[in-house]
Amino acid sequence: MKAIPIAKNIWWVGAIDWNAHHFHGQTFTTKRGTTYNAYLILDEKVTLIDTVYGPFTEEMLQRIRTVLPPEKIDTIIVNHIEPDHSGALPALVKLCPKARIYGSARAGQGLERYYQQKLDFHSVKTGDRLSLGKRTLQFIEIPMIHWPDSMMSYMIEDQILFSNDAFGQHYATSERFDDEVPQETLMEEAGKYYAGILWPFSQLITQRLAEIEKMAIPIKMIATSHGLSWRKDPGKILQAYQRWASNETKPKIVVVYETMWGSTAKMAQKIVEGIHDAGVKFELYDMAQSDRTEVIHDMLDAKAFIVGSSNHDSGILPNMTSFMECLKGLHPKKRIGCAFGSYGWSGIAIQSLQNTLAAAGVEVVQPLLSVVYAPDEGQLAACYELGKKMAALVK
Ligand code: FEO
Repeated sequence: MKAIPIAKNIWWVGAIDWNAHHFHGQTFTTKRGTTYNAYLILDEKVTLIDTVYGPFTEEMLQRIRTVLPPEKIDTIIVNHIEPDHSGALPALVKLCPKARIYGSARAGQGLERYYQQKLDFHSVKTGDRLSLGKRTLQFIEIPMIHWPDSMMSYMIEDQILFSNDAFGQHYATSERFDDEVPQETLMEEAGKYYAGILWPFSQLITQRLAEIEKMAIPIKMIATSHGLSWRKDPGKILQAYQRWASNETKPKIVVVYETMWGSTAKMAQKIVEGIHDAGVKFELYDMAQSDRTEVIHDMLDAKAFIVGSSNHDSGILPNMTSFMECLKGLHPKKRIGCAFGSYGWSGIAIQSLQNTLAAAGVEVVQPLLSVVYAPDEGQLAACYELGKKMAALVK
């Protein structure tokens, strides 16, 4: 449990959560685990940037102890109050009660709510600077990326952007830097993180990225709060965020469905046959068997979504219900979509799918394909045609 140097007199002192399978409750699966990154800076004022999730407090303290006793920390920067980054704060404050804590004004309010104790908290705003001695931190608020309190801290002399959640990945590994792991896995996890957590805030992210660009701060390294830090090519993740935030898509269709007795599945198969014959890339998911985090990641660069369900009671099947609620919260922009499914005596499910697509901001394409009990030859042909039509629209 050692501290790992990331620059002269700056150490990573975070924790690796190898066994995390879920994040944000059960909303996000983390098949590669995650890390909670905290950074220790040795200067006239010994400074810690962020802490770790509460159960990992001892791991963080052990790493800090390999550099100096935690009691010597003078300054704690809280870039974000979410418990995966602030959970160890109460224990740390007990060890170094004289440490001054800095964060956004919203962070101060949030910490009081979470930890119900008076803290020596000082609020900072964009542009404020804090001298640590030889080094200076400059703060950049990034409200709603992804909480109201979120901010980044930029170390002027070392040109390191401590970006907190932004640019991170749920990726547990013994390595600490982008150039030490397979690029495909790194970008997959970064994309999954964006899709599952940051997608709803895309418009704000575009604005904040533009603001950071306008500041013209040289960035040698982006030190994230989850997963790997970007030292070889920080521009790579900045460009990816610009692309994702602008809702740039490819001619690709994601078909997601759930079926009760196989009729909706048959329709889905015919739809993707149509897409395939039209020469367009697609992904097909049975939501009862699929990982929602993977599906949503696949949707990040897809121009169209086609959703299907059998009718169930007075709605759609439960896995699709949960998926559609998530989709609505993501607010995807510049997408088209359509709905299909089967029913026995009430076709409410298919209408409900269409309504949720529209509520999510997806432009709904007709026809709405619904069949009683099982699709006949003519209805399967209509499914095939719908696949071709959607393919033509995304090309
Ligand atoms: Fe990694 Fe928003 O917490």
